Amino acid sequence: MSAVAVVGTGYVGLTTAVCLAELGHRVTGVDIDKAKMARLRSGEPTIYEPGLDELMAKALERGRLAFTSDYGEAIPEADFVFIAVGTPRGRRGEADTVFVKQAAKSIAGAMKKTMTIVNKSTVPIGTGNIVARIVGENLRDEIPFYVVSNPEFLREGSAIYDFMHPDRLVFGSHDEPAARAVAGLYSKLDTKILITDLHTAEMIKYASNAFLATRISFINEMARICERVDADVKVVSEGMGMDRRIGPLFLDAGIGYGGSCFPKDVKALARMAETMGYHPELLDAVMEINLDQRTLVVEKLREVLGGLRDQVVGVLGLAYKPNTDDIREAPAIDVIENLLQKGADVRAYDPKAMPLLKARMNTIRYCDDPYGVATGADALLIITEWDEFRQLDLDRLKSLMRRPVIVDGRNIFDPKTMRDRGFVYRGVGRS
Ligand SMILES: NC(=O)c1ccc[n+]([C@@H]2O[C@H](COP(=O)([O-])OP(=O)(O)OC[C@H]3O[C@@H](n4cnc5c(N)ncnc54)[C@H](O)[C@@H]3O)[C@@H](O)[C@H]2O)c1
Repeated sequence: MSAVAVVGTGYVGLTTAVCLAELGHRVTGVDIDKAKMARLRSGEPTIYEPGLDELMAKALERGRLAFTSDYGEAIPEADFVFIAVGTPRGRRGEADTVFVKQAAKSIAGAMKKTMTIVNKSTVPIGTGNIVARIVGENLRDEIPFYVVSNPEFLREGSAIYDFMHPDRLVFGSHDEPAARAVAGLYSKLDTKILITDLHTAEMIKYASNAFLATRISFINEMARICERVDADVKVVSEGMGMDRRIGPLFLDAGIGYGGSCFPKDVKALARMAETMGYHPELLDAVMEINLDQRTLVVEKLREVLGGLRDQVVGVLGLAYKPNTDDIREAPAIDVIENLLQKGADVRAYDPKAMPLLKARMNTIRYCDDPYGVATGADALLIITEWDEFRQLDLDRLKSLMRRPVIVDGRNIFDPKTMRDRGFVYRGVGRS
């Protein structure tokens, strides 16, 4: 059992803290957000993630998990400190590492013994060296320390599962024994371990996200071609995915990727490449196709309705993907803004994300369920593929709508079934 501090208790940090406690370590979460710390200390999870409540309650009850805003309470005892603070998009698209730098400085100020600093945040290549320099400059005494990059690959919506069942774990450091020591924290997990240097570990995270985003933009480009040649992209992607060299995942055509990671990470990688004198043509195309998907779906709706002014449009799904309340860079936001700009009267429903969107956008009407959204609507637009939407009572939905138009931005329904049920139905890339 090791003493671990986790700095930053957002999606990644809280999941890391709770799961490392589950793996048997003594963990203290540290966050500058005092209100968040108070809620977490009282046992209230601050994010929605399946399975998080139970594991967090268990860890708190066993005394393996604590939360504080005071670095001085968490750092001196820790053998390992994870940095899991945000690295948001900077003004020119670069990853802003200001929180990482602040965390490194605060850690150094509180360090009393040798420790290993593990960076979990997604950071520009070389940030581990900057962390090492900041810690070195701000230590009160000469204390040896190590810096290891351990990028995180969890997905929001299945964060706990992903943390406990990773496809691989990556550890990069200038000091191989330090990387191996961090890998030891996860020894109870049965997975592949890759030990490498610091820069390569940091790059693996960006390359992985960029590749997944590329697959999504690729299949969205295929969808546009499918619409023109009268083919069904869903079956095309199924057929492609049967090839072991390709595999079936991340080949769903739709409104494109969003969220707190893919958009900012692809942009940050492209920006990093530009700074180093390389123009990343493929990444630029990936980003452009992705943004266009959000416009195309509104165009499709405009075409079917013959204009959007004063049309009542019901939006189903606001979170950037199902099983999360996260709306960061969610396609729904761009789509709704576009609809409003074109004069549509927008109402919306999401099982989890409404409180967050309400705080940001108060010009639309929020409904208690999908049927409320459908009542009097000229069209429904499906933006997030929540299971709840797959199970809708379609006859009831249709009877409530003014016009039975559905534009399905996530291809959750079968076009033929929908037309047989009397809907005017448009999917993405389906003839
Ligand atoms: N969210 C994901 O699905 C995901 C997946 C993999 C990697 N990542 C990466 O992990 C990192 C964290 O992402 P997130 O989604 O958990 O962010 P988040 O915004 O949810 O949480 C960041 C937390 O850090 C805290 N913080 C900021 N500065 C601090 C400081 N100086 N000291 C202590 N706490 C501080 C904030 O108060 C906040 O609670 C990012 O680099 C992100 O790119 C995210």
